[in-house]
Amino acid sequence: MIRIEHSDITKLAVDAIVNAANQVMLGGGGVDGAIHRAAGHELYEACLKVSEVRPGVRCPTGEARITPGFKLPAKFVIHTVGPVYRDGQHGEPEKLAGCYRNSLAVAIENGCKTVAFPCISTGVYGYPICDAAEIAVREVKAVLSDHLDLEVIFCCFSAGDKAVYESLVG
Ligand code: APR
Repeated sequence: MIRIEHSDITKLAVDAIVNAANQVMLGGGGVDGAIHRAAGHELYEACLKVSEVRPGVRCPTGEARITPGFKLPAKFVIHTVGPVYRDGQHGEPEKLAGCYRNSLAVAIENGCKTVAFPCISTGVYGYPICDAAEIAVREVKAVLSDHLDLEVIFCCFSAGDKAVYESLVG
């Protein structure tokens, strides 16, 4: 099932919230900063323990890593790294699709039944919201068709973003 909400993702008492992180995975601005502030310093410590796949990269773009949620109401944080948008012709759509698919795969592996996503890559990384939302809804629907017990919340930080998702999910 899909739900669309206009809220602060750090307030959601779900099994997992997805973080729009960067490859270093030690915090940042936007939703990344909000999640780290709300979770507390233990989240930073847990991220530090995630092994680097190459110097300075704990989570390559399009992949996902899971940590506990610590002080957050959510049990887990699933960190994923969206693509920086250039022009849509440099593999950005495929990478963004990977964020949704891999985050849900990690959620399912960890027994999560409710997962909330922010609008990955549509802030600092500049992905146009309509294009990004189309990819997000398509990928989530594909996974949900094989996992009927899963509930996904698109957690929008603005009414405008929420309206975009509502036009796609119907
Ligand atoms: N709850 C829900 N959504 C939020 C919140 C929040 N508390 N704060 C911001 N957002 C929304 C933004 O409005 C945007 O729609 O999250 C979406 C993603 O924006 P960013 O957080 O800027 O993420 P992104 O565009 O993927 O850029 C990632 O930004 O913060 C850094 O460390 C991060 O380098 C990484 C980059």
